[in-house]
Amino acid sequence: MSFLFSNAQPLQAVIIGANRGIGLGFVRHLLADSRVGTLYGTYRHRDRAQDLLQLAQSGGDRLIPVQLDATNDSQLAQWSQTLTQQRQSLHLLINCVGILHDADQIQPEKSLRQIDGDRLLQYFRINSIPSVLLAKHLMPLFRHNQPSVFASISAKVGSIGDNYLGGWYGYRASKAALNMLMHTTAIEYSRRCPQTCVVCLHPGTTDTDLSQPFQRNVPPNKLFPVEKTVHQLMQVIEDLNLDHSGQFFSWDGSPLPW
Ligand SMILES: NC(=O)c1ccc[n+]([C@@H]2O[C@H](COP(=O)([O-])OP(=O)(O)OC[C@H]3O[C@@H](n4cnc5c(N)ncnc54)[C@H](OP(=O)(O)O)[C@@H]3O)[C@@H](O)[C@H]2O)c1
Repeated sequence: MSFLFSNAQPLQAVIIGANRGIGLGFVRHLLADSRVGTLYGTYRHRDRAQDLLQLAQSGGDRLIPVQLDATNDSQLAQWSQTLTQQRQSLHLLINCVGILHDADQIQPEKSLRQIDGDRLLQYFRINSIPSVLLAKHLMPLFRHNQPSVFASISAKVGSIGDNYLGGWYGYRASKAALNMLMHTTAIEYSRRCPQTCVVCLHPGTTDTDLSQPFQRNVPPNKLFPVEKTVHQLMQVIEDLNLDHSGQFFSWDGSPLPW
């Protein structure tokens, strides 16, 4: 029996960055799971969240879209306060926010010549910081005695022990920082939210906007459709128990080195 789903009550879940890519895939998957009660899905801009908003319209009242920027401390504080006032609790959070490149300035660095301080900070702002802000602000919602999982989508390239190729300085370092922040959170949660398992997960290379420019050299069987990634990661999440808190797992459930 899965630790997360061992409670007979439907669980309350949150997907951060639910408007596209892997996050939207989790929303579709969890909506089809009757063990999930309320599902919150966050997005930043309405014009980039049409699929999510349509799902919410057609899917009854289980899916609640929330306009929220997970990099924004005060927006998170406000949302947490709203949920606490509604006497909500949370059992599953998956943070899917991340950036590798953007249309303007951010491109993964191939060499030290391309290092730029402001762009490095952008990587940290988007890839490292939201999870720990979420852990801080939503901690009251995880203070209960029902089994829960707080997962952050990290990346294997954030593993220092597994870095043999180099390059991608900002993305790698920001995911390594995410891993450290979540490992540290797991220690504090073990005292304050002792039923919550905190993990980082590597999804495998997945066919989304994020990987699109880098898919050329990926063998077809190593490029997962979003549905496959989500299915595999949900399997990993269902196999978790509290002994796994503070660890970093790949899509096939194998532990990854820091
Ligand atoms: N795809 C892969 O092959 C792969 C491999 C390893 C790890 N990952 C990780 O998996 C996670 C999901 O990636 P994905 O492939 O689903 O990417 P994606 O399709 O590009 O989605 C990225 C998500 O992050 C949000 N986001 C981007 N910039 C943001 C910002 N400045 N502030 C707040 N939110 C921002 C996006 O929201 P907006 O639409 O509002 O920008 C969107 O919800 C990321 O953490 C990524 O690093 C992906």
